[in-house]
Amino acid sequence: MKKIIVTGGAGYIGSHTVVELQQAGFEVIIIDNLSNSRVEVISGIEKITGIRPHFENLDCLDYIGLDKLLKKHEGVDAIIHFAASKAVGESVEKPLLYYRNNLVSLMNLLELMPVHGIKNIVFSSSCTVYGQPDELPVSENAPIKPALSPYGNTKQVCEEIIRDTLHASKSMKAVLLRYFNPIGAHPSALIGELPNGVPNNLVPFITQTAIGLRKQLSVFGNDYNTPDGSCIRDYINVVDLAKAHVTAMKRMLDNKCEESVEVFNLGTGRGLSVLEIIDIFQKVNGVEVPHKIVGRRDGDIEKVWANPERANKVLGWTAVESIEDTLRSAWTWEKRLAEERIK
Ligand code: NAD
Ligand code: WQD
Repeated sequence: MKKIIVTGGAGYIGSHTVVELQQAGFEVIIIDNLSNSRVEVISGIEKITGIRPHFENLDCLDYIGLDKLLKKHEGVDAIIHFAASKAVGESVEKPLLYYRNNLVSLMNLLELMPVHGIKNIVFSSSCTVYGQPDELPVSENAPIKPALSPYGNTKQVCEEIIRDTLHASKSMKAVLLRYFNPIGAHPSALIGELPNGVPNNLVPFITQTAIGLRKQLSVFGNDYNTPDGSCIRDYINVVDLAKAHVTAMKRMLDNKCEESVEVFNLGTGRGLSVLEIIDIFQKVNGVEVPHKIVGRRDGDIEKVWANPERANKVLGWTAVESIEDTLRSAWTWEKRLAEERIK
C-alpha cells in the first residue's frame, strides 16, 4: 500500500482529499497543528471510509519534529502539502505570519524529503497567481501577475521555491495544483468547511446568513463589467477537487509526469456571478438569503474562470458535480453544524 503524508489533512480541502485517497487504497498520515481545524474531523473521515487515518498533531514549522516523524513513518511515497494560512485579509494585517508559515513549512518539507527518500510532492496553489488575467478562460501558461496580498504572494513564491529546488535536485517531482474557488461539502455531511469567525468567502457567508447566524450578505459591487455587474468566479465542488489530487498522485507514482514540475488548473471552466450563486442557492434549497449590494471589496478581481483542458486531457480529470448539487451540499453541511450547536 502506498503511503502518503497529507499536511493540513484536517482542514477543508485536505480532509476531503484524505477520504478520496483512502477510498482509492492509499495509506494516509495526516500532519496538522489544528490551527484552523478541529480534531473531530479525523473521526468524520473515519466514519466515511471506515479507516482512521494516522494523525500527527505537529506544526510544519517544527523542522526537528518533522524529521522525527518522517523517521517514524519510514517509506513514505509522497506528500500532499495543504498546510498553510489562507485568509487574504489577515495576510495584509499579519504578513510575516503568512510568509513564515507558508514559506518555511514548504522549505522544511522540501529539505527533509531527500533525507527520507521522498521524491514526490503535490502543492496547493491558487488561481490567485493569475490576478486579473488578460484572456479568459485562463490557462496555465498565462502570465503570473503581481500579487494583490501577502497570501497571494506566498503562493507565487512557493511555486518558485519548488521550481528552483527541483531544478537542483533531478530525482524529485512536483505537481502544482491551482485551485479556483472550492465550495460545498462531502455528500455525507460528515466533513465540510469550518470557517473561523466571520467568513470571508462567499458560500460560507451565504449558508451562515441563510441559517440566521448573519443578518445579511453584502454583495461586493454590481458595477463590474459583467452581465449582471457582480464578480464572476469558477466555483468548484470540493469532492471533485479532492479527486484531482488522487489522479495527480497516481500519475506521479506511476512515473507518468513528463516534466519535473507540472502545473494544472483545477476548475470547471464555467464562470458564475455572485448574484447567480445567490439565486441558485435560494432556488435549490428553498431558503432566502437576505442580501444587499454594497461597494466593491478592495483587491477583488472582476472575473476569472479556468481553462481546465490540461487537467482534463493530461490528468484525465474533469469536474463533474453540478453547481446545484454543490450548493445543496453546502446547505446540508450548514444545517448539520447548526444541529451540533443545539446539542
Ligand atoms: P484550511 O485552513 O481548512 O486547511 C489548512 C490546514 O492546515 C488546517 O487544518 C490548519 O490547521 C493546517 N495548518 C496550517 N498551518 C499549519 C502548520 N504550520 N502546520 C501544520 N498544519 C497547519 O484551508 P483549505 O481551504 O483546506 O486550504 C488548503 C490549501 O489550499 C491551502 O494551502 C490554501 O492556501 C490552498 N487553497 C485554498 C483555497 C480555498 O479557497 N479554500 C483556494 C486555493 C488554494
Ligand atoms: C467570491 C466572490 C467577492 C463574500 C479568495 C482568495 C483566493 C482563493 C479563494 C485561496 C467575490 C464576493 C464574497 C461576501 C461577496 N483562496 N463576495 N460577499 O475572492 O474569489 O478568492 O478565495 O487561494 O486567493 O482571494 O473568493 O469567496 O472571497 O469571493 O459579494 O460576503 O464573492 O467579492 O466576487 P475570492 P471569495
